[in-house]
Amino acid sequence: MRTIIAALCSILAAVTLAANVARASDEKKAEEKPAAADKADKADKKEAADAKEAPAADEKSGPEKMVLDKTGKMAPVTFPHRKHQEKAACKDCHEGEKPLFEQKRNEKGYLMKEMYAGGTCGKCHDGKKAFKAQGGCMKCHKKEK
Ligand code: HEC
Ligand code: HEC
Ligand code: HEC
Repeated sequence: MRTIIAALCSILAAVTLAANVARASDEKKAEEKPAAADKADKADKKEAADAKEAPAADEKSGPEKMVLDKTGKMAPVTFPHRKHQEKAACKDCHEGEKPLFEQKRNEKGYLMKEMYAGGTCGKCHDGKKAFKAQGGCMKCHKKEK
């Protein structure tokens, strides 16, 4: 009888020990988790900070949109300037011996025949680099909603 009780006791002790070890390792994992989560959080914050810097630099780079309506012959054109800054470099439009566009509002407006000949907007809106100036008139001649 005694040996049976002793045996039961040692089994119980072994089970308790095993349970404790398991709990301890769970606790250790729980401690590690926040550290990893913290790291991920810091990475997120850095990304957010980087993303914040970009628009700040853009704000000095000309307006987001410009309404081009100097000729008054067609519906005005809302030119998405900021969007173009993402697709092309400033120098593509504003630099060189004969810049495509002055870096200021022009007085005369632009002519379609120049565009069709590959000038101004037509430099890119040629049906290859971007949609063609010669069709889809309303893609450009529209007021922004
Ligand atoms: C796809 C061509 C294109 C690109 C790329 C472009 N711009 Fe422009 N930008 C224009 C046009 C078109 C105008 C308006 C000209 C007009 O009103 O006749 C303009 C006007 C401006 C103006 C004058 C705005 C005002 O209201 O007086 C500034 C400043 C300017 N751009 C800066 C920049 C800078 C800086 C970059 C590069 C980050 C850039 N642009 C990229 C086409 C472009
Ligand atoms: C890539 C953009 C774009 C497309 C596409 C476009 N236009 Fe234009 N258009 C302009 C711009 C910019 C102006 C100058 C706006 C201003 O300053 O008044 C203009 C001016 C005009 C003018 C007045 C100047 C002139 O050339 O007599 C007419 C008319 C005109 N467009 C007709 C059309 C027609 C018709 C189509 C379609 C076959 C068309 N446009 C397609 C951008 C575009
Ligand atoms: C340096 C090249 C370049 C020049 C110059 C240029 N564009 Fe674009 N434009 C693009 C590209 C690339 C796209 C995007 C591709 C597409 O939509 O076919 C685009 C797209 C657009 C769009 C559609 C934007 C959207 O919401 O998706 C409009 C409107 C537009 N251009 C108008 C103009 C007008 C008006 C001019 C002249 C004042 C002009 N673009 C000059 C390259 C140019």
